[in-house]
Amino acid sequence: MSSNSVPSSSDKLLSTAQIRQAFIDFFVSKQHTHVPSSSLVPFNDPTLLFTNAGMNQFKDCFLGIDKRDYTRAVTSQKCVRAGGKHNDLDNVGYTARHHTFFEMLGNFSFGDYFKQAAISYAWEFLTSKQWLALDAERLYVTVYETDNDAYNIWHNDIGLPADRIIRIGDNKGAPYASDNFWAMGDTGPCGPCTEVFFDHGEHVEGGLPGTPEEDGDRYIEVWNCVFMQFNRLADGTMEPLPAPSVDTGMGLERISAILQGVHSNYEIDLFVNLINSAAKLLGIANEGQASLKVIADHIRAVSFLIADGVLPSNEGRGYVLRRIIRRAVRHGNKLGAEDSFFYKMVAPLVTEMGEAYPQLVEKQAFIESAIEKEEVQFAKTLAQGLRLLDSELEGLKSGDVLSGEAAFKLYDTYGFPVDLTADITRERGISIDEAGFDEHMEQQRQRARDSGKFDVDYSAAIKVETATEFVGYEQLEDDQVTIIGLYQDGKEVDELNEGEQGVIVLNRTPFYAEGGGQVGEMGEIRSASGVFEVEDTKKSGQAIIHHGVVNMGSLTTQQPAEAQVKSNIRLASARNHSATHLLHAALRKVLGEKVSQKGSLVTSEVLRFDFSYDTPVSARDLLTIERLVNEQIQANIATQIEFMNIDEAMAKGAAALFGEKYGETVRVLTMGTREIEDGVEKPFSIELCGGLHVKRTGDIGLFKITSESGIAAGIRRIEALTGMGALRYVQQADSQLTTLANQLKAKRPEVAERVQSMADKQRELEKEIERLNQKIASAQAASLIDDVQLIADKKVLIAQVAGIDGKAIRGLMDDMKSKLQDTIIVLIGEKGEQLALAASVSKSLTGDIKAGDIIRYLATELGGKGGGKPDYAQGGAPNSDKLATVVAQLPSWLESLLA
Ligand code: SER
Repeated sequence: MSSNSVPSSSDKLLSTAQIRQAFIDFFVSKQHTHVPSSSLVPFNDPTLLFTNAGMNQFKDCFLGIDKRDYTRAVTSQKCVRAGGKHNDLDNVGYTARHHTFFEMLGNFSFGDYFKQAAISYAWEFLTSKQWLALDAERLYVTVYETDNDAYNIWHNDIGLPADRIIRIGDNKGAPYASDNFWAMGDTGPCGPCTEVFFDHGEHVEGGLPGTPEEDGDRYIEVWNCVFMQFNRLADGTMEPLPAPSVDTGMGLERISAILQGVHSNYEIDLFVNLINSAAKLLGIANEGQASLKVIADHIRAVSFLIADGVLPSNEGRGYVLRRIIRRAVRHGNKLGAEDSFFYKMVAPLVTEMGEAYPQLVEKQAFIESAIEKEEVQFAKTLAQGLRLLDSELEGLKSGDVLSGEAAFKLYDTYGFPVDLTADITRERGISIDEAGFDEHMEQQRQRARDSGKFDVDYSAAIKVETATEFVGYEQLEDDQVTIIGLYQDGKEVDELNEGEQGVIVLNRTPFYAEGGGQVGEMGEIRSASGVFEVEDTKKSGQAIIHHGVVNMGSLTTQQPAEAQVKSNIRLASARNHSATHLLHAALRKVLGEKVSQKGSLVTSEVLRFDFSYDTPVSARDLLTIERLVNEQIQANIATQIEFMNIDEAMAKGAAALFGEKYGETVRVLTMGTREIEDGVEKPFSIELCGGLHVKRTGDIGLFKITSESGIAAGIRRIEALTGMGALRYVQQADSQLTTLANQLKAKRPEVAERVQSMADKQRELEKEIERLNQKIASAQAASLIDDVQLIADKKVLIAQVAGIDGKAIRGLMDDMKSKLQDTIIVLIGEKGEQLALAASVSKSLTGDIKAGDIIRYLATELGGKGGGKPDYAQGGAPNSDKLATVVAQLPSWLESLLA
């Protein structure tokens, strides 16, 4: 397509892909830089669950914290609104415009152009014959009530008649709470906005913005242009931004619907193709089923989330992803899918969107396998859920009510929609306590809302304006620092006294603050008047803050002081941190490049590394990984630390942590041997990292993996030790082996073999005992026949047999039955602490007494359990001194029934 026009919408309907491209082309022609969409997992922003607007990646540009080498940008941004604050999941598929995933087209100005140009660009792009060529007569705009500038630009410059410009005030019950005042969240950049609406025509119900019918579908918002002017602080203060800016947003799916002359977003080319693919896959016709729309919508959110590194799990983002997948699968089942099918939707999605988002193409196989795995797991869960439902229903009879709690558990844990549960219970005449269900649902929503808030670190409560200089890379102590702030319970104080907990801020510090997986450091801060024990060090903005307690005397602000980090702890942490880098590199070498870091923890005692990998790491691979790391330690190579431009670091292949935000200049750590590959030097490990490390790999001493485990679907965790910790671990294992060898009277290398042969021997002996018991039992059986007695004229045999358990008693009973006709036989086997109970009643006698009744009677008397059919029943009970009495009374109980 040419860079300055698109085929007119009257000649030919524009495809979604063409509209996306046209938007970008238009703004590039207006000197905007085309910036790629950012990840759906927001960069280091604890206030957001998922990226939900085009401006998210530019938040710091608006605030003036971040500077880019452009002041105009255009994007097509991936957005997800599911979970957290905007949770529309239950509506998706049933309305014309709800989606979990959508694309937002946006143009941005960071202190460059403002209202005038922003409005002109919007109008030109929407109405110019060269671009979208929308009928200007069908467009209406809204402005913030007091925004006369915007009003005048629309009216005087664009020439829009007054009856098509609507002023909207604070219509949501608080100052600045308005459809025409946009805010990213409770805090952050915000400002008045102007919106453009398209009139779908008289045949659709609905009224203009500001009228009671505004929620109808006739007038649809297509363009939102925010004039970013303020930063809203947590206490509600509106702080002016350093420079007025512009943030516009246009939903790609909506504008496509308008240009393609359809009413619902689900009728645009992209969705029609996805829906048809889903129908074909399920072998059904597309008859507008909501379930097909659900599948077409959800495959987008799911695939893009997985491509951006989210995997199904039971918490946070992974949980939202899991619910979306399960919702799609349930809708597939509704349409008749019996096996995993959802993962097969990735291919049609790649066809539709792969060109605009190459990451989908690159990660197609990975996305498919992650979805398929979740589908298989859900199928199992579904079966478990059905079992749970069966057991919940066991005690209930027709007319009863299933508790709301049980219905909710099925919904929440097993993904059972309440209507599915209701269908099943209805068949048994049982209804559901819907009010109870709703109550649990509301509690869960509250929990989701709370978790959506993403508790911010407690250091954030302390607002320190200054920046602390960190001098700890090279030194452990600094005896010329100044206390510049003291805090207690989050409030600034002048003095901290003996025994008091608090926080100290210094102008300069050697203490490393928690970050990059490494925990904060410990040590002491001493002044002329007191000693403060540092228990933890964290960051708050640009400041480094020391948490701890005054051990002696008192400390006051502005006092000179000495700061000293505990050196043994520092060195042990550095060993673990450096070993983590070597481990990361070794994992990628042995398991492949698909291994990516998901998290890490480095303390002075252990290191923990979480990474994406689908299956448990084999014992053999673990040995290789451990060996590779130790080879690097023995090579004793100096650690190289360099500062460079981020692009340069990436070009060198430095591993960066996904979702972490890096500045333009980064600290790059190179460790281990350098190999030459294709003429290029490849170090064993190269990573971006701000943490503390050993000077040479040899300082790590020894590296020992202690465990490998799964922590969530597709995520593994390795824990390991270094230095003396690793040595202690090996020594302990070694001494355990020696003890074991001594106990077995074997040489150490023979221990495993010896244990194996003992286990084999034990199995043989058990079998032998079993055989002997059976022999004894049948010998006993022969002699038992003599004990048959008559009770109320019926032949009855009551016998106690030693060494017989629940398994053996059945064989013995068969033996007895073959020898005794028309007899009631009761056998009580005694083995260890357990009694095995069995009763047999010949068919001719079941009219008089039932075996099940006899066993139930015995079980009740003996405090056990049991039951069965009229001719045979079995049970068990603990062996106790009640046995003799119960056996003695059994004949008279039988007599009372038989007489
Ligand atoms: N931030 C605004 C929105 O999301 C405009 O991009 O609607």
